[in-house]
Amino acid sequence: MAWSSDEAPDYGRGVVILDNWPGYDLNLFTYPQHYYGDLDSVLIPHGIIVDRIERLAKDIMKDIGNCDIMVLCVLKGGYKFCADLVEHLKNISRNSDRFVSMKVDFIRLKSYKNVLIVEDVVGTGRTMTALLGNIRKYKPNMIKVASLLVKRTPRCDGFRPDYVGFEIPNVFVVGYALDYNEYFRDLNHICVINEHGKEKYRV
Ligand code: IMP
Ligand code: MG
Repeated sequence: MAWSSDEAPDYGRGVVILDNWPGYDLNLFTYPQHYYGDLDSVLIPHGIIVDRIERLAKDIMKDIGNCDIMVLCVLKGGYKFCADLVEHLKNISRNSDRFVSMKVDFIRLKSYKNVLIVEDVVGTGRTMTALLGNIRKYKPNMIKVASLLVKRTPRCDGFRPDYVGFEIPNVFVVGYALDYNEYFRDLNHICVINEHGKEKYRV
């Protein structure tokens, strides 16, 4: 398809979920019984998350698949994304003639060469900016950031990850390892929590 320059899609934003997207009705999917009544809608079903990550893995391999990569997972929320991303990276590597050595670590600082930081969600960007500051002290050759989600917030520092799964409205989301006070990590889909859920799991 041909696009004129002002309407060309910006793939750097990932899959863009607009503010007026109502989400999917929860009754169309399965989810743990203990969260019945606590959620508003399914923002991103699990299957779509995994499909999008497969494409991110392809893009990452195209860009940096020629060097040995240290995948650095930001715990705890990043563990599902990291596990699925590494699985796809391994599949691509295994089925191509490129051989890529990949190590995985969880934020623990030591000397790294080529770093791919894997994060669940970037909101204001403050967390990632602070983390990058720390990692840069170790003078890696390359640092790239992959974030599954980026929120449309007025970001104070304008930080933008190199790879973005989905751009979402400025709402609090849970599931696929993202939590609210440690709950909802066991939910597969990325969902919007409702007031009842917030109240129930408030600390
Ligand atoms: P930032 O510093 O505002 O970019 O916030 C990023 C961190 O806040 C992420 O690493 C998450 O741990 C947490 N966070 C931000 N938004 C959400 C959300 O909607 N659900 C769960 N955790 C979130
Ligand atoms: Mg995080």
